[in-house]
Amino acid sequence: MQTETPSLSAPWPVKPNELPKEIFHREDIFQLELERIFRGPVWHMVGHVAELPKPGDFKTTIVGDVRLLMMHGKDGRVRVFHNSCPHRGTQLETAARGCRGEIECPYHRWVFNMEGALVSASGRDRFPATFRNEDYGLRQLKTEQRHGLIFSTFSDLAPPLDEFLGPAGDVLRQALGGDERVTLLGYQKVVYHGNWKECSDNEGYHAPLLHRAFRLLKWQGGKGTQAVSPYGHKTISAELAEAPKGKFLNDPSLIELRDPSRVPRSFVAQLFPLNLFVRHLDVINMRVAFPLSPHATEVHYAYFSRQEDDSEMCAHRRRQAANLLGPSGFISLEDGAVFDRLHEGSYTPGTVAFQKGVTDDGGIESVQLQNDEASNLFKWQVYQSMMGFTHD
Ligand code: FES
Ligand SMILES: [Fe+2]
Repeated sequence: MQTETPSLSAPWPVKPNELPKEIFHREDIFQLELERIFRGPVWHMVGHVAELPKPGDFKTTIVGDVRLLMMHGKDGRVRVFHNSCPHRGTQLETAARGCRGEIECPYHRWVFNMEGALVSASGRDRFPATFRNEDYGLRQLKTEQRHGLIFSTFSDLAPPLDEFLGPAGDVLRQALGGDERVTLLGYQKVVYHGNWKECSDNEGYHAPLLHRAFRLLKWQGGKGTQAVSPYGHKTISAELAEAPKGKFLNDPSLIELRDPSRVPRSFVAQLFPLNLFVRHLDVINMRVAFPLSPHATEVHYAYFSRQEDDSEMCAHRRRQAANLLGPSGFISLEDGAVFDRLHEGSYTPGTVAFQKGVTDDGGIESVQLQNDEASNLFKWQVYQSMMGFTHD
């Protein structure tokens, strides 16, 4: 049965560039987002095969409010299962990552192989005669890989993955370095006090204004462009300006690009609803995020190196990743503070409005520049339509 769309205190949209603030904190809206968006007809980037490179390797994750267990099977395939025993529902794995020859549920010791099939169940001589192992394998999500990135969906109505990704698929390939031959360097994990839509609404307008490091390094350049897709994704290609040598940093190697032939120097693929992939200088960064409630969003930053990198290059990438782009890095530290303020501010009545890159009638300029904010409005149109807020 379809849940009804909750009514808002005023019709929405009034103007295409306006958003009602109540959608950022209402519990009933959050529950509907889990149903219609996160468990709806979209693909989620749940990881990269470099996080679980050999048979038996697993990783646990969450999409929306559903706990998942990804496992690399003996046949080389990575499958994504519900992290829940098909017997009575016990969570199967609690570790973030690990390696196991099989999965054993602790409650009644049912055992599953790396491909998710039930291989033994204790005391089955007292089970009904009709019990068949094949009816009790781990429940799997539809899953596909592109450039080693693993995408899953809960819905049979999701479009084909390549259609869903559109041109963002090629940006992801470029961001990874051309193919899937990357190695996991490590993670940073953070919980932001903010609604998931506040966290994913970060745009180019604020970058040189909020982030002091962008200004100090005169980095914004501003020559980049943004592209949007009908499924709500956004990609940004940005040319960073050359930072003044030795002026602000005692160790300028922190902002060095060791592959200076690479153009653009910075690009971002922001995938609807809540995935992000960033290539900034030598940082290769996948972000997988979980809406914990209407008020909190957990983000896992995974950093990668290329397989051909020597140890010095790996050290350079690791240091640049954590210091520049991580949750406490010096070009993103301030975002967390703003998410908190956006959320607190959302309890005041009324609407907010996008302006930079917006036309007089509230629409969107046809070309979106690097430091515009209006390209996010395409994502908001997808959101409105999936949530059922669109009206004539
Ligand atoms: S709940 Fe897993 S074996 Fe019973
Ligand atoms: Fe930011």
